[in-house]
Amino acid sequence: MSVEKNVVTNSFLNIEPIDLEYVGIKKDALQGEVAVITGGARNIGLGFARAIAWAGGKVVIADILEKEGQEAERVINAENGPDTALFVKTDITKEEEVKNLAEKAFAKFGKVDILINNAMNMRLNGPVLSSPIEDLDQSYAISARGVMLLVKEFVPGMIERGHGIVTYSTTQFHYCPPLVGGSIYTAGKAAATSIIMSLANEVKGTGVHVFCMIPAGVGRIDFSKLPPLPEGKEMPKLAMPGFDGLIPPEAGGAAMVYCLLHAEELHGSGIMINDAFEAMDYPYPNPSTLPPKMESRRLSDMELTLVFSNMGPGFKKKK
Ligand SMILES: NC(=O)c1ccc[n+]([C@@H]2O[C@H](COP(=O)([O-])OP(=O)(O)OC[C@H]3O[C@@H](n4cnc5c(N)ncnc54)[C@H](O)[C@@H]3O)[C@@H](O)[C@H]2O)c1
Repeated sequence: MSVEKNVVTNSFLNIEPIDLEYVGIKKDALQGEVAVITGGARNIGLGFARAIAWAGGKVVIADILEKEGQEAERVINAENGPDTALFVKTDITKEEEVKNLAEKAFAKFGKVDILINNAMNMRLNGPVLSSPIEDLDQSYAISARGVMLLVKEFVPGMIERGHGIVTYSTTQFHYCPPLVGGSIYTAGKAAATSIIMSLANEVKGTGVHVFCMIPAGVGRIDFSKLPPLPEGKEMPKLAMPGFDGLIPPEAGGAAMVYCLLHAEELHGSGIMINDAFEAMDYPYPNPSTLPPKMESRRLSDMELTLVFSNMGPGFKKKK
């Protein structure tokens, strides 16, 4: 790891320096807030954690990956000063580990204001017919059971204090459209999205704001870990640090902080990351290479209950 004037790069975590100032976010924008980020030891979750810390928040990283989690804690403290970050090794599917997470978070920071539900196992990515049933159990364990355990652990305190934000890193696919793959993965995401959107209705008016953000296309590929390509083949250029393909996790973090700052407005919404970039007028260098914009909008209470059954063309219209 190299640290120079709080600018940190780290090849183990595969991160780039982070700076939200040029997108108009102030250094103290989240001062006084404490966030728990599940799956925060790497990739998108780490981007969220670093961005929240950059904006003045304290961050608690909950992840099963010990080495990455400890390194993430070290990097965030190097970037923002000691006692900004805390890593608690946590399997969010286990109730006692979620309780331990809460104990450690409260002992260190005294409260939790923001819960970012972001953990998932992307390996649970098979089709229905060829996936073992255990994959579905695991998908639900992380994405439904884990999310509900965290919500039950942290949201009552937020309601009591009349202040809080809950987010879920969802997907735009709540069933598996042809060619996309990942039926088992999307089943878990749909379950958690349902829990989170129901929660949005339940906590309305309490001061706790709930929304989903779809970080589609965020990530950074470590080319050195990929198998060599056949002779004559070239890897398509995916921009790093630019946006010529994948969106860097640091930019994903900026979008998350922007959404947190607009949580009241976003309550009950599911938004694509591109919508956040558009709203914040993000000066991304290659907008045309971003995934195509998908329409998102605030759903009414009634739509929230209907959204999962309202799929496909239905009966053919009689002529
Ligand atoms: N990458 C994308 O384009 C994309 C698109 C839509 C949604 N998402 C969602 O965004 C989130 C982050 O995606 P990513 O690409 O960074 O994934 P990732 O696999 O790189 O990171 C997920 C993290 O969750 C952790 N995790 C897994 N199981 C856990 C458990 N039981 N307890 C605690 N932590 C656990 C992993 O260790 C890992 O650090 C996921 O929920 C994913 O479904 C990603």
